[in-house]
Amino acid sequence: MADTTETPTGEALEQKLSELLEVERFEPPEEFRERALLKDPSVYEEAERDWKGWWSRQAKELLDWFEEPTEVLDDSDPPFYKWFADGKINASYNALDRHVDAGKGDKVAFHWRGEEGEERDVTYADLLRDVQRFANALKDLGVQKGDVVGIYVPMIPEVVVAMLACARIGAPHNVVFGGFSATSVRERMEFSEAKALVTVDGARRKGKTAPIKQQVDEHMGDLATLEHIIVIQSTGAGCDMQDGRDVWYHEIVEQAEDECPPEPLDAEHPLYILYTSGSTAKPKGILHTTGGYLTGVAATHKYVFDLKPDEDVYWCAADVGWVTGHSYIVYGPLLNGATSVMWEGAPDYPSRDVWWDIVEHFKVNILYCAPTAIRAFMKWGADLPAKHDLSSLRLLGTVGEPINPKAWLWYHLVIGGSRCPVVDTWWQTETGAIMITPLPGITTTKPGSATKPFPGTTADVVDEEGKPIERGQGLLVIRRPWPSMLRTLYKEEDRFIETYFDKFGRDTYFVGDAARKDEDGYFWIIGRVDDVVNVSGHRLSTAEVESAIVSHRKVAESAVIGQSDEDTGQSICAFVTLEGSEDEGDETIEAEIRDRVADRIGKFARPKRIIWAGDLPKTRSGKIMRRLLRDIAEGRELGDVTTLRDPAVMEQLEGKVKELQEQES
Ligand code: WTA
Repeated sequence: MADTTETPTGEALEQKLSELLEVERFEPPEEFRERALLKDPSVYEEAERDWKGWWSRQAKELLDWFEEPTEVLDDSDPPFYKWFADGKINASYNALDRHVDAGKGDKVAFHWRGEEGEERDVTYADLLRDVQRFANALKDLGVQKGDVVGIYVPMIPEVVVAMLACARIGAPHNVVFGGFSATSVRERMEFSEAKALVTVDGARRKGKTAPIKQQVDEHMGDLATLEHIIVIQSTGAGCDMQDGRDVWYHEIVEQAEDECPPEPLDAEHPLYILYTSGSTAKPKGILHTTGGYLTGVAATHKYVFDLKPDEDVYWCAADVGWVTGHSYIVYGPLLNGATSVMWEGAPDYPSRDVWWDIVEHFKVNILYCAPTAIRAFMKWGADLPAKHDLSSLRLLGTVGEPINPKAWLWYHLVIGGSRCPVVDTWWQTETGAIMITPLPGITTTKPGSATKPFPGTTADVVDEEGKPIERGQGLLVIRRPWPSMLRTLYKEEDRFIETYFDKFGRDTYFVGDAARKDEDGYFWIIGRVDDVVNVSGHRLSTAEVESAIVSHRKVAESAVIGQSDEDTGQSICAFVTLEGSEDEGDETIEAEIRDRVADRIGKFARPKRIIWAGDLPKTRSGKIMRRLLRDIAEGRELGDVTTLRDPAVMEQLEGKVKELQEQES
């Protein structure tokens, strides 16, 4: 029976939430603190006193090296840092072999649950067996150390096998989130010159099957660098196989040898590339290497989640296709020998309480998810979680976007029964691992603040000139290298420097987020300062969406902005000017534009609002002033419009936005 004594619903809940909104600080619950791995705040000073030594200790304590590094950090050529450069290591060995060698082969690595409720337990020994075979199969196909392998696979255990098999032989993987369209996959395979792509026949999505291989075929045909497509039979959807290029995963794995010794790799050998959105339409290939990255994710996963691998069931409800999945579904948990839950589907299929059913069923202790999911659950009502026994939970985490205090409190109260610390973790694809976060047994939390940098890590808020702002809002920067930082943008070194190290110099990493520091030195992340939009925790570039929209033959011009959204944090709002004399588009064009975006990027990038604009606000030199469009969309007082070529444009647009808002409400 569910224990509902601590979780009010209905009016009592609203009452309790408004009381809690008055509470500024939450201490770590005593019961939690007593058993926490870290409970002495001196860890911060200790790490600060000798930060290189501190990271070096993490690297040695948490990882097994074929050759231990004697060097910690080579900072002779910023921003090209090297960590543990003379060490030799292998990620898949650290994730699997050493646990199996220690007698933990039968331990469950993943309790997998599929959309229709079927379950599969995958042990460490299972993973090691499959990874070795698939690694050999890749080698048999001619994939060598240094070759890039694309992975476009949904949330099934084979995605982990594919990633670790690549890591085992030193072939950097390039995973593409399953929600991206095949066009995006092609682009990412092309930019990275991938030699092979691992994908599936079909993917299940809320009771339907998407024909993934067929979509891939439609876009990949003439890509000369791509020699092989390896197809995992996942749904049995059936698909065409091209002779000489396509092979079935199960067939090549069956023919492969059992044993594949892990390649001893340099610590700075590339582990993976992950494309993410930046200010321009072309995605950035974030490159992570091995030793430093593994050190960062192992340490943060262990201490931020207070992980006790022999007791805990841990669940990161992200998708492996994003960095959160790379670091906190795959590498962090496996390095630490954790037992995780892996859920194939969405939060609302087959029902809106499926997450709570999973927590109850697997007795999940640690849950890590995005604020967008929490806001959706709030909307669906506290009655749904109340139907389930969530008493196994002892720690809750969030990531990906700012969490509003009400959602934080709801999570704390309704899901955590007021006994679980909440860790709001700030980080990025670029940082590889969590950077600003509470330590659950130590930090006093404030709802809405990610609190303080992780031990050994620094962060600062500065003004446009780079001068520190002790209190108040400014730009977030990181002044010191950290082990899991990106090493470059794949094949775009100039862009790497330009994007992150031009603004404040080569020794200061420019984050791209605005933040504020309060009187206790706590960080409050406000949001992006560039043209990146965060929709449901998914990073998108406005330029990317604009270029998809203008590819419609009737569109002359478009400006896309991120608009605050109660449910998804931000949503896409597109101002569109049509070709010729047509002023307003109709529903057909609207639908076509949304389809274009779905086709070019993915469904999650479709604009929520499309506003027909006779003209866009431009400066005399022709630059679109997105700032003004944001002001209109948010209903703010307009800033300075005197630099506009034609100030009348704004009045017209303002009228349209108001009209649309009235229609919507
Ligand atoms: C935002 C996701 C506020 C931020 C791990 C960052 C956050 C971008 C938080 C990176 C948080 C991430 N609070 N904002 N706890 N976590 N962000 O690369 O704007 O997909 O720059 O990495 O998400 O998104 P990315």
